[in-house]
Amino acid sequence: MDRISEILTFLRGVDDYISGDMISAKLGISRTAVWKYINQLEYKGYGIVKLKGKGYRLINTPDKLFPWEVYRYLDTHSIVKEIIYQDTIDSTNSYAFKLALGGKPEGTCVVAEAQRTGKGRLSRVWFSPPGKNLYLSVILKPLIHPTRVYPITFISSLAVYDTIERVTGIVPTLKWPNDVLIHGKKVCGTLLEISTEADMVRFIVVGIGFNINMKEKEIDELIKNKATSLHIETNKIYERASVCGILLSNLDKYYSIFRKKGEQEICNIWEKTAQIKGKYLEINQMGEVHSGISEGIDTSGAMLININGKVKRIIAGDVSF
Ligand code: BTN
Repeated sequence: MDRISEILTFLRGVDDYISGDMISAKLGISRTAVWKYINQLEYKGYGIVKLKGKGYRLINTPDKLFPWEVYRYLDTHSIVKEIIYQDTIDSTNSYAFKLALGGKPEGTCVVAEAQRTGKGRLSRVWFSPPGKNLYLSVILKPLIHPTRVYPITFISSLAVYDTIERVTGIVPTLKWPNDVLIHGKKVCGTLLEISTEADMVRFIVVGIGFNINMKEKEIDELIKNKATSLHIETNKIYERASVCGILLSNLDKYYSIFRKKGEQEICNIWEKTAQIKGKYLEINQMGEVHSGISEGIDTSGAMLININGKVKRIIAGDVSF
């Protein structure tokens, strides 16, 4: 734990003022050093009242994705070992990819307040305004063959699904392959980027864009009819650091199921949660539209659809119900 989070723990541990003397004695640092850290916290947006003879009192925490705020909601044994915070970045996925190429280990997570060129699936742009949503990318290094990567996308959407249920009470919908919807509108998407050898995955970057506090009028015109946020659906404002921590813990939960029980189990859970079997679907695969009744997904994550008695296996595309 670094000094900033230690000092925050002291400030949060009391309902009253805490003296600089007390903090300096507990941490074994000078009162001037404590004062400097308090100033740093204020600079970062924390509201701290300073009263002569009494000390410091925390009265407000900024809505930022500072790593020490996210760690508060993570289990200590979580796969996420390091959170790298960026204010504005081109894309958390591109940055995490570079870090993974440079040798950063599994469990490294990049979070950003805004992205200049957020990337969506199929070369689309991911709308990424500052301070409203979650944009994060996690490096994973499962020891698997490249053909077994696809279900990792289900790990991400299941983690988001559970997070939405827990923080809002709303039951969302899963849309193949990797969207999470509320009332038919997209609230979250996942972009996997992969580096492989011929028969082994080097690493996977799991990029999650999750709309949290974005208001209706702040949504880009181009996606207005298709996108939503937790705020739009519930009229509440969410503490993004806590949503982020809960999401990373859920990601950890499903990733450990994947590692212990394999992709079959993850595909089963996804299929059950998505309640996709027996539904009529239209899948647009690069302009070619396939329609039929879903027979679920196979172990590789591909959608099986029954078209006039023949089952077709589809590995990528956009689904509409
Ligand atoms: C989709 O098209 O549904 C996938 C969207 C994924 C967006 C996220 S935001 C964080 C990460 N960084 C990116 O550039 N993209 C992903």
